[in-house]
Amino acid sequence: MANNIVLVGPMGAGKSTIGRQLSSKLNYEFLDTDHIIESRSGADIPWIFDVEGEQGFRDRETSVLAEIIDRDAVVIATGGGIVMRPENRKLLAQSAKVIYLMASIDQLIKRTFKDKKRPLLQVENPQQKIRELFEHRDPIYREVADEIVMTDDGGTRSIVQKISEIISRS
Ligand code: S3P
Repeated sequence: MANNIVLVGPMGAGKSTIGRQLSSKLNYEFLDTDHIIESRSGADIPWIFDVEGEQGFRDRETSVLAEIIDRDAVVIATGGGIVMRPENRKLLAQSAKVIYLMASIDQLIKRTFKDKKRPLLQVENPQQKIRELFEHRDPIYREVADEIVMTDDGGTRSIVQKISEIISRS
């Protein structure tokens, strides 16, 4: 089992921001599956969805996850849909700790308001989409997670502090 920390949760939960700060607090390297996919392909996520479809993006996501999941001393921020493939869930189980960064639907809607970078939210009613995705995915985030951390209240620093306390006592 790799000695790393993986952050899962919906779009707008703060996985990248919190992950980056957590990694510097722990003196770990920070990896972000979305960023790796973008830098490897030389294109941004909307472009990948356009050209290769969601399936193409998901294939890239699985291969990046498979490649980095056994790294030690890293914090890995993942894309909100990574938990959907059973294959990815198996890979996530190889991590020492999977943390579900949770937020209320209201907060998720606020934090993704007018987002242009997330293809799944470029629909007529993004708020409804956030709700649907949450209802569908929340049980799966819970299933893969070792810990659940609520991100609605307090700033990034206090959430990072909370996570590092959880890690140090386990
Ligand atoms: C997705 C979430 C995004 C990104 C892609 C698909 C999803 O990542 O991977 O747009 O299916 O929820 P964030 O959760 O970092 O926004």
